[in-house]
Amino acid sequence: MNKVYEKLTTCLKSVREKTDFQPEIALILGSGLGDYAEEIQVVQTIDYTEIEGFPTSTVLGHKGRFVFGYVKEVPVVIMQGRVHYYEGYPITDVVLPTRLMGMMGAKKLILTNAAGGVNFDYQPGDFMLITDHITTAVPSPLIGANVEELGVRFPDMSEVYSLRMRDLIKEEAEKLGIALKEGVYVQLTGPSYETPAEIRMCRTWGADAVGMSTACEAMAARHMGMEVCGISCITNLAAGMSKKQLSHAEVQETADRVAMQFKALVTAVVSRI
Ligand code: HPA
Repeated sequence: MNKVYEKLTTCLKSVREKTDFQPEIALILGSGLGDYAEEIQVVQTIDYTEIEGFPTSTVLGHKGRFVFGYVKEVPVVIMQGRVHYYEGYPITDVVLPTRLMGMMGAKKLILTNAAGGVNFDYQPGDFMLITDHITTAVPSPLIGANVEELGVRFPDMSEVYSLRMRDLIKEEAEKLGIALKEGVYVQLTGPSYETPAEIRMCRTWGADAVGMSTACEAMAARHMGMEVCGISCITNLAAGMSKKQLSHAEVQETADRVAMQFKALVTAVVSRI
C-alpha cells in the first residue's frame, strides 16, 4: 500500500476506536482562534498523542488535539494545534491531519490563519477572504506516489477556494458589520519572517497576504475533493512596510484584539455552508 495512505488508515483506525463521530465540516484554526473550541458544544476530544502514527514529535506533543462537537447543530471537527512545515515535519505529515479529517467524513474545510499584509491597502486587524493562493515556495504535499484512494495524479486547482462558500462568507461578514478584504495568500516556509525584498517579490507575484500555513492544507483537501474556504486575519504589515520590526508578540496581540469578531464570523459561516 502507498506509505502515506497506510499511515492515514492507521490513524483513522485509531480515531475510530475512540469515536464514531461524523463531522460535516472540518476547521483548522490559526492564531486568535485557538480557544474557539471552548465555544462549541464539545462531544469528545482526542489528543494527537493518542492517535497511532500521528506526527507528534515536537510542539504538537503537548497541546494538539481534535475536538469533536456541534456549532449550532452542525457536526464539526476542529484541529486545535496545527502542524507547520517549519517544525520539521515532511510536508505529507503537515497535511496528514487535514486528510484525516476528510477521511473521517468532513466534506468541507474552513481554514483560518494569521498573516502579514502585503497589499498596501491592508491594516493590522483586517480580515481577508482568501480568493486564491501561491504555494510555489513550499514543497507540494502531493509530491511522491499519488494516493489514488484520495484523488487523481494531476488535480485541477483552478478554484481551490470555493466561490459558493466565498459568496456566503461575504454575506455573513456584511451582516455582522465586518469589513472583509479579498485577496491572494502566499505560503512561505518560515519560521523567520520575510525580508523586505521577499515581500516585494510576493507583491510582484500577485500576493496580498503572506503566511506560513494554510495553502498546503487547502491543496491536500482539494486533491481529495473537499470544498475549501479560508480567512486570514491580517495581524501586521509585512516586512519593510513599516518601521516596526516583526514579532510573534505583535501577531498574537492583533489576533487577540479581533478574536471576538473572528469567532463570530466563523460561527456564522459554519451554519451557512
Ligand atoms: N509573515 C509570515 N507569516 C505571518 C506574518 C508575516 O508577516 N504575520 C503572521 N504570520
